[in-house]
Amino acid sequence: MDTRGWPAAPVAAGDLARALRPFGESTMLPAAAYTSPEVLAWERRYLFAGTWISPGRVEDLFPPGVTQRGLVVGDIPVLLTGDGDADIRAFANTCRHRGHELLPDGGTADRHSVVCPYHAWVYGLDGDLHGAPGFRDLPGFQPGEYRLVPLPARVWHGWLFVNATADAAPFEEHLGEMAGLVAPYAPQRLRLAGRHRYPVRANWKVVVENYHECYHCPLIHPELCRVSPPTSGENYDLPGAWVGGAMDLRDHAETMSLSGRSGGVFLSGVDTRRVLYLGLFPNLLVSLHPDYVMTHRLEPRAPDQTDVYCSWYVPPEVADASYAVDFWDLTNRQDMAACESVQRGLSSPHFRPGPFAPNEDAVHRWVALVGRAYQGTPPWVGSTD
Ligand code: FES
Ligand SMILES: [Fe+2]
Repeated sequence: MDTRGWPAAPVAAGDLARALRPFGESTMLPAAAYTSPEVLAWERRYLFAGTWISPGRVEDLFPPGVTQRGLVVGDIPVLLTGDGDADIRAFANTCRHRGHELLPDGGTADRHSVVCPYHAWVYGLDGDLHGAPGFRDLPGFQPGEYRLVPLPARVWHGWLFVNATADAAPFEEHLGEMAGLVAPYAPQRLRLAGRHRYPVRANWKVVVENYHECYHCPLIHPELCRVSPPTSGENYDLPGAWVGGAMDLRDHAETMSLSGRSGGVFLSGVDTRRVLYLGLFPNLLVSLHPDYVMTHRLEPRAPDQTDVYCSWYVPPEVADASYAVDFWDLTNRQDMAACESVQRGLSSPHFRPGPFAPNEDAVHRWVALVGRAYQGTPPWVGSTD
């Protein structure tokens, strides 16, 4: 286990101490955690670049023809290379000559070599330096010393994960026992059936915290409460940098949909009476249903602004997943409205962090993960206590 710590986040230690008290005594995080640009900058480096982030599914990142892609993970420019879904690699998006980005953020290319747009140094998709104009006859120049800097990358059930600082604990340790909960759903064999982007005027952690409790369900989710009892939540206490639990379906309900009926196909070997809600630290929420998998991927844009990408995955033989998409689109909109209101409220000078209700224990666990990280303890260290 990697126990190296991080520098502390710019959050007042006394305010953090209250959030880190045991469940029943603790409060939510102080306002600065949700409103401060300095805190978000720290989070980008340590919580996002410093852990394992999924920039998306392999088939989205590498559609036919795309062999390389530039993106920013946390605050670090990253270059992904691959051919189809074979041999996907991640590198620092920093030319070994004078540092120019090899592709801009969001840029793609279809070549089988990486060509720096500044002075045309050429690299293979494996990061080896193949050419440096003008250096051929220079004595002592060793191309082997100028490979692109490799970054750890893993494909898990179709999602690519990258550690942009290259010093996180191994992915398996980050994932912990969440691996066993997700495996029966075999998300890699499912196809994308729908995707919505929700631009939310709220801090990304407000969205995560909202996901981890159903205390709010009776008031804002009448449709959800018709198919799943809001009091049925039960949370896991297992190793790994994640928080989550399961909720029951009502007797008449086959799945989470407006009617309770499934319009799809049940996944084999999974619990057909429960829905699992798992939040992999920091920003991937994975909701496992008897007949579909839904993810929310959160991209912070500003302290009070987050893009939430919600995706629905179904077995390939299911032609129409609108029963799942419509239900959760409605529920997502209810949630996002609540998150935006929370953001406005906690931005008030009169905001004081409040206590957690007995059924907000998963929020407490999440806040403890974040609070310890703010103190300098990475999420994979001691995440089960
Ligand atoms: S900075 Fe890339 S070739 Fe000069
Ligand atoms: Fe909700």
